[in-house]
Amino acid sequence: FLASRLLSHVGNLPPKVQQLGYINRGLKVAVVGSVGGIGQPLSLLLKHNPQISTLSLYDIKNTTGVGVDLSHINTRASVCPFEGKNGLKKAMDKADIVVIPAGLPRKPGMKREDLVDVNASVACEVAFAASEVCPGAMLAFITNPINVIVPIVATILKAKGTYDPNRLFGVTTLDVVRAQTFVADILNVDPQKVNIPVIGGHTGRTILPILSQCDPPFKGTDKEREALIQRIQNAGTEVVNAKDGLGSATLSMAFAATQFVSSLIKGIKGSKDECIVECAYVESDVTEAQFFATPLILGPQGVKENTGLPDLDDEERKALNGMLPILKESIAKGIKLGEGMI
Ligand code: NAI
Repeated sequence: FLASRLLSHVGNLPPKVQQLGYINRGLKVAVVGSVGGIGQPLSLLLKHNPQISTLSLYDIKNTTGVGVDLSHINTRASVCPFEGKNGLKKAMDKADIVVIPAGLPRKPGMKREDLVDVNASVACEVAFAASEVCPGAMLAFITNPINVIVPIVATILKAKGTYDPNRLFGVTTLDVVRAQTFVADILNVDPQKVNIPVIGGHTGRTILPILSQCDPPFKGTDKEREALIQRIQNAGTEVVNAKDGLGSATLSMAFAATQFVSSLIKGIKGSKDECIVECAYVESDVTEAQFFATPLILGPQGVKENTGLPDLDDEERKALNGMLPILKESIAKGIKLGEGMI
C-alpha cells in the first residue's frame, strides 16, 4: 500500500529527489566486528556503496569512535554505531545483509582451525541474534575457520527455524581475488580480467583453484602450476608471516568482502543486464561434502543457482577427492559444535 502511495507521488517530486532513489529503497547492512583490522576498512569501503542507506556497526567496544569518523564521509549511508549489551541485536535489527569479520585472527604458527574455540562462540551469538531480529537477512561470515563456522551457524539457524541455505555464506572471495592477482602477475594481464573459479573450502588443501578453467588460459609447466596452486593455498600464511604477529590479511580481505557484499546487493536489486556470480562456501549437494564453495549465481533471495563443479582435469579431480575427507571432518565438527550450543 505504502509503495503504491509513494509511486503515485513520485512523479510530482522534484527530479533531484527522484534521482536520489526515493522509491528505490536503500539497504541496511550491518558489520559485526567493525572495529577490527578487517572491520574498519570494510566499513569504509561499504560507506561508498550508494545502495546502502544504513550502515550499522557493531563491535564489543570502541564502535562509537569509528562510527563518528565514518559518519563525516559525504556518501548516502547513515552510520549507526552500537556496542555493549544489546548492541548486537540493535545493530542487526531488520538488516538486509549482515557481514561478520568478528573474532580472533591467526598469529604466525597458527592454523585457521586453532581459532575455532574462540570464534565459534562469536558466530553463535550472531546466529541467535539473526534468528531473532533479522531472520530474512543474508549472512556473510568472514570469521575463521570458515569451513567449521558456517556449519555451526547453519545448525543453530535450523534449530531456531530460521535457516535458509540460500542466505548463509562463508566468504571465500579473497581466495578468488588472490588467484586472479597471482595468475595476472604471471600472464602479465589486468587481474580484473582474469576469470578463475576457486572451489572447496577456505583452508590449505580445501582451497582449490581450477586453473584448467582459467580465462585467459594458464599454460604453465606442471611445476609452475603446482607452485601457483600452493601460493594461492598458502597466501593467508604469507600475510600472517609478513605481519609477524600483528594479525592476518585485513586490507585485501576488506576489499574482497566489499566485492562480495556489493554482489549480494546487486543480486537483491535484481540486475537485469548482469549475471552476478561469486564463489562462496554454502550448503551444497554438488559433492559429498554438505558445505562446499562453487560459483553461485546471486539473485534477490541470495543463491539463485549453484552452477556446480566446473569442468576438472585429472589433477584437479584428484585434488578434489583428496580434500573431501578434510572438509567433511570440519563440517561434522561444526555441526556437533552447533548442536552443543542450541
Ligand atoms: P581483529 O582482531 O583485528 O578484529 C576482530 C574484531 O572482532 C575486533 O574488533 C573484536 O573486538 C571483534 N570481536 C571479537 N569478539 C566479538 C564479538 N563477540 N562480537 C562482535 N565483535 C567481536 O581480527 P581481523 O584481522 O579483523 O580478523 C577477523 C576474522 O576474520 C578472523 O577470524 C580472521 O581469521 C578472519 N579472516 C577471514 C578471512 C577469509 O578469507 N574469510 C581472511 C582474513 C581473516
